[in-house]
Amino acid sequence: MSQMPKITYIDHEGSTRTVEGEVGSTVMETAIKNNVPGIEAECGGACACATCHVHVDEAWQAIVGEPSPMEEDMLDFGYDVRPNSRLSCQIKVTDELDGLVVRTPERQA
Ligand code: FES
Repeated sequence: MSQMPKITYIDHEGSTRTVEGEVGSTVMETAIKNNVPGIEAECGGACACATCHVHVDEAWQAIVGEPSPMEEDMLDFGYDVRPNSRLSCQIKVTDELDGLVVRTPERQA
């Protein structure tokens, strides 16, 4: 049986929470399900609000990949957007992402 991929969320004060994600769900859904603060996800995952913004740890950027053009447009509404910014509702949890580290910005848009 394969293990559930672990995802670590670090908030802007440095508090770290590691939780288990389900393959097929998203990094946003995993945060909400586990009451991880710092992700609001007002639109419920439709790539239409930018309040699920995270900074992907540099070591994971290539594996997580680039935002789609639609996500890129939405990210313009994010706060503290950086080259490693992604909308966490657009990151699907896969076995490959076991150990993923993301940081939540000081506030959402
Ligand atoms: S939850 Fe709204 S864009 Fe991700």
